[in-house]
Amino acid sequence: MAPAAQPSLPSPVADLRIDRARLIDRIEALGQVGAIDGGGVCRLALTDDDRAGRDLVVGWMQDLAMDVVIDAVGNVIATWGGDRSLAPVMCGSHIDTVRTGGKYDGNYGVLAGLEVVETLASTGYSPRRPIAVAFFTDEEGARYHPDMLGSLVYAGGMSAEAALDLRGIDGTRLGDELVRIGYAGPVPCPGVVPHRYFEVHIEQGPILEAEGVTIGAVTSVQGIHWEEITIVGRSSHAGTTPMAMRRDAALAAAMLTVRVRDLVSEIGGAQVGTVGAIDVHPNLVNVVAARATLTVDLRNTDRDELARAVERLGVACDEIADSESVEITRKVTADFDPVEFDAAMIDLVESTAAGLGHTVRRMPSGAGHDAQMLARVSPAAMIFVPSVDGLSHNVAEFTEPSDLEAGANVLLHVMLHEASTSKTISSQMTPHPADGAA
Ligand code: HGY
Ligand code: MN
Ligand code: MN
Repeated sequence: MAPAAQPSLPSPVADLRIDRARLIDRIEALGQVGAIDGGGVCRLALTDDDRAGRDLVVGWMQDLAMDVVIDAVGNVIATWGGDRSLAPVMCGSHIDTVRTGGKYDGNYGVLAGLEVVETLASTGYSPRRPIAVAFFTDEEGARYHPDMLGSLVYAGGMSAEAALDLRGIDGTRLGDELVRIGYAGPVPCPGVVPHRYFEVHIEQGPILEAEGVTIGAVTSVQGIHWEEITIVGRSSHAGTTPMAMRRDAALAAAMLTVRVRDLVSEIGGAQVGTVGAIDVHPNLVNVVAARATLTVDLRNTDRDELARAVERLGVACDEIADSESVEITRKVTADFDPVEFDAAMIDLVESTAAGLGHTVRRMPSGAGHDAQMLARVSPAAMIFVPSVDGLSHNVAEFTEPSDLEAGANVLLHVMLHEASTSKTISSQMTPHPADGAA
């Protein structure tokens, strides 16, 4: 389907472009915070490294004379320009990472937002609506489940109180860590409903690179289901315990891991499944394991297929508990339906990318993103740029500077369009109260 005609912007800004070198410099500087071997980053949410990354980005926001606020779960929202009686056009992402993180996942979307502001500020042009740039707490969900936690609370999908009481994989309480790093903010949640929300992000998969396409106009985010599964057997001597007498939690965990792979194959289509974390106790060479805990991550673009996968996981747990004489308990720690982005905004991303001379294609997102939570309260859309070798959540994560620049220019112009034109409330959204005055 040919992209719609590119929307026309007032001439002073139509030819505006971001500053590639400045954007890359910030990405590299933030990439030094929590840097690990191989060119990657480890800044798990609310750790000292996360605090250092937050402090660096907040400093850049303040250098740009943005008004910075911190909310009750540590989300940081910086606002610039425009008529503050109007709802802002917001962009953002996250700056927390997984343990083997790359420099671009999340960080790129936040820093591209700062680049949009700095580019506009340098021209003296102030859009009708404020521009907001946000980073949300614990998007990765790696330390505190679920993922997209901060944006979920921001959008009213979980209370701040419930989020603050979450226990991490290390036993810490989220609220205590937030206080410890100095990011327990005064602003209540849910947050201000933006007029529009855009997020530019690396694809983290192989499609754009394989097709030689520069921009992804993201149509949706697939459904996500996480469980923490605990298997209790009985520790016993590795040498003296006959195989038939064993209640081996490690064996049961291994069997369940294979069953996850099998159920994914049986369901097929878009179904994916991952056992990413396995912890065995007492984890010793000569002891039959007493206990094993593992995580299961199931995803599918189709809500009903995902539900079938979850059912099959339950059957596998029951069968293994029976055959291995172990007890298996399941705790759901994330359960998000697939999300469709706003049709008019997908059109805008696609037409803007084409208007800037980039190749563009529509595509779903395999990864979760803060945009899927903001889509609960505001028309939202995402812009993807290619990941080299489709690699992410890996220290070798890389995106070409020219692609980073392209994505940031698309972000600049879609935000300018929505911040400068008259209100165009998408059909399914109620106008922001201030819009009545617009
Ligand atoms: O889990 C995800 O898809 C994202 O990386 N938080
Ligand atoms: Mn991300
Ligand atoms: Mn990620």
